[in-house]
Amino acid sequence: LGSVEGVRLFFAPGRVNLIGEHTDYNGGYVFPAALSFGTYALVKPRSDGMYRFRSMNFAQQVDTHVDAIEYRKEDDWANYPKGVLAQLLAFVPSAESSSFTGADILYYGDIPNGAGLSSSASIEMVTAYALSQIAGITIPIIELVKLAQAAENQFVGVNCGIMDQFAVGMGKKDHALKLNCTDLSYEYAPLRLQGYKLIVTNTNKRRGLADSKYNERRAECEAGLHMLREVKPDLPNLGALSMEEWTSLRNAVKDPLIRNRVEHVVSEDQRVLDAVQSLAADDLTKFGQLMCESHGSLRGLYEVTGKELEALQGAAMSVEGCLGSRMTGAGFGGCTVSLVREDAVDVFRREVEQQYTVATGLKPTFYVCD
Ligand code: GLA
Repeated sequence: LGSVEGVRLFFAPGRVNLIGEHTDYNGGYVFPAALSFGTYALVKPRSDGMYRFRSMNFAQQVDTHVDAIEYRKEDDWANYPKGVLAQLLAFVPSAESSSFTGADILYYGDIPNGAGLSSSASIEMVTAYALSQIAGITIPIIELVKLAQAAENQFVGVNCGIMDQFAVGMGKKDHALKLNCTDLSYEYAPLRLQGYKLIVTNTNKRRGLADSKYNERRAECEAGLHMLREVKPDLPNLGALSMEEWTSLRNAVKDPLIRNRVEHVVSEDQRVLDAVQSLAADDLTKFGQLMCESHGSLRGLYEVTGKELEALQGAAMSVEGCLGSRMTGAGFGGCTVSLVREDAVDVFRREVEQQYTVATGLKPTFYVCD
């Protein structure tokens, strides 16, 4: 950084979820991994209380004083760092809040936006870490994870679960993370891929209605939980149900649509446990099958895939050497993640691009992941 005194560089990754979709806000399990691409923040402290947010990816330039942090729709991406700053100030004891004296921050991200790879959690976490560090305050990462989620829920207004911020904050090189979203207990699982690669493929379809549909699915799960509590009053969340229990209780959920949503959540939760076990046993064939079953459930029961994701997943599975493929993230567009034999990667790209473009008129983008 040459002669620019006091400038520091921070980084937070994006994440890909390998399996366990729409389970986090139901108190279930998820199995994400951090990615080598993410968000960089170059930070120079100030002493006048101003925070000046700039990005190499977006045009909006946003300045805010530490005493006047407000959500403004037109500030777009900068609402994420502003929300995090507001949460940091609420989190620290009042004596320490005077350490937040301002900063110039320049962001650069290489995660495709709105693709289901957590570009927003990545900017939240890099901001939370960087601003607490330059204020000289050490906050455990797990607390930064929670306050980044709170920023997104309360400041930005997206009612997301905790998976993304957790994976971004706690992810580790060459490992996936098995997270229990009820009590936040977690384990690292080595990603021994034995000559296979994880390929993230972007549909390049903007998600459009994703946020409202996301909140609609959350509400449907809550409705299911209410119906089940009629017969099992102490049920804390859907993640607490085993497949066996669900089979015996499912008639309590009269509405077939809600029943499908719950069936997805309960079966997906079991698939996460089975997938973690198959990875530990080096059984990638089984892992791939579970990915496909997860996708089928997200299509048929949870209904969050759509034409583009279906075309992409179908094309992926037609390639010899692809063990499994599924949508990843919230759905309604975004990306798939596929498990592909290394020597089949080139054929995979060619074949999938060809089939997908014929089906949708869109060009996919491929990321071979680390
Ligand atoms: C988004 C949310 C997460 C999670 C996934 C679906 O990424 O931010 O909390 O709910 O969708 O699994």
